Amino acid sequence: MSKNEEKNIQDIINHLKVSGFVYQNSEIYGGLINTWDYGPLSTNMMTAIKKYWVREFISREGNYQIDSKIIMNPKIWKASGHIDNFADYLIENKVNQKRYRADHIVKDLFPEINVEKATFEELENIIKEKVKQYDNEKCEWTSIRPFNLMFKTQMGAIDSTAAQTYLRPETAQGIFVNFKNVSRTTRAKLPFGIGQIGKSFRNEITPRDFIFRTREFEQMELEFFCEPEDSEKFYYYWIDKCKKFVELLGLKNSNIRIRPHEKEELSHYSLGTSDIEYLFPFGWGELLGIANRGNYDLSQHMKYSQESLEYLKDDGSKIIPFVIEPSIGLDRLLLALLIDAYEVEKLEKDDERIVLKTDYNISPYQLAVFPLVKKLEEPAKNIYDKLLKTTDIRVIYDKTGSIGKRYRRQDAIGTPFAITVDFQTLEDQTVTIRNRDTMEQERISVDEVEKYLEKFVK
Ligand code: GAP
Repeated sequence: MSKNEEKNIQDIINHLKVSGFVYQNSEIYGGLINTWDYGPLSTNMMTAIKKYWVREFISREGNYQIDSKIIMNPKIWKASGHIDNFADYLIENKVNQKRYRADHIVKDLFPEINVEKATFEELENIIKEKVKQYDNEKCEWTSIRPFNLMFKTQMGAIDSTAAQTYLRPETAQGIFVNFKNVSRTTRAKLPFGIGQIGKSFRNEITPRDFIFRTREFEQMELEFFCEPEDSEKFYYYWIDKCKKFVELLGLKNSNIRIRPHEKEELSHYSLGTSDIEYLFPFGWGELLGIANRGNYDLSQHMKYSQESLEYLKDDGSKIIPFVIEPSIGLDRLLLALLIDAYEVEKLEKDDERIVLKTDYNISPYQLAVFPLVKKLEEPAKNIYDKLLKTTDIRVIYDKTGSIGKRYRRQDAIGTPFAITVDFQTLEDQTVTIRNRDTMEQERISVDEVEKYLEKFVK
């Protein structure tokens, strides 16, 4: 097993593009910078990951899931603080008119400086005094200015600022503004959570590192409402739950760490935040975050909407609940899972194979069915059809090329098992089943395939 520091991110990206996990967005028109589409393989994986999130964060916890809109009343973003605070520090090189995130430049060139703690004046001084060349170009810097990350759009046919709205930069606010609706219609008692999965948009100054930081991405967020005095307990509960969740999906423990935020780097709403970081080949990076948002959001929405969002306790007293928020970026999690799974293995006779050792439960396909030779296509296809129609196994049929080539193709896209239909199958209804990781084969009855694979279901 190779270590992540030794993995080459460019090799992994090339592999993901060539094998159909990720496509260049708008490719036939020359693409759209730093924007990617997901092919069937990634989409299968993401569907499986979302299913596990719903199970672990919603159903098994007795929480509620909703689906609010991407475009909402713009007053929401004033109340949430996004209009005033949701900005990165933008600096421009006057020589080539390129724009950069000031903290990224300092992080790249002076890794010993803790950019999270640096003020905007400090960043500006460091860059103006010390950075004479960047991105292979001479530099003359403008001053730093805050750049709001929300995408603006217009609602309806009126082209005026009155019609200006935003694409949501997080799914969380759709939950806060529905808090009253959900608690009234479900009659839920504290503590309880409301979660949702959906797209979020941020006009990042420098999207980078492939699908790690993009302008459109998907979030899986839970807002867990509780009594203020219980918030510390639930903060640690959800940190632990998130760690177990990414391990359940197959991330190696040695590539994960929990990093509590220092006071200076807390978001405007947060009383405490911890990130779960992943060791990407380009260094440790935030995979997901857990924040204690206190009662900031509900209080702000009460103030701006003039509606009460208080919770009535059984003893007749009213409180504004505190909120613990585990927030997971699906695209980033997918990238981490693919990097974790990627191996280039040396085989006999100077041969090697690329293999994605994805967990069975989130693999794009879980089983491949091959006919050994052309003559056996019909019985193999019949077995494939039956598995498709009568089981939940994600199964793929492949008849092209030698068996060796077909194994390699499935290894490269992470299919953990492959069954081959041969002449013996016609006599005794058995097939060989080959394990992607060990490459070992055994013979089992066709009727036992589903039961055989059940052992791997988590
Ligand atoms: N509601 C809280 C919130 O949105 P965040 O730390 O800004 O917190 C949560 O985002 C998660 O969303 C991150 O940990 C990351 O996984 C993902 N995320 C944020 N910005 C992203 C981007 N530009 N591209 C991909 N994923 C992103």
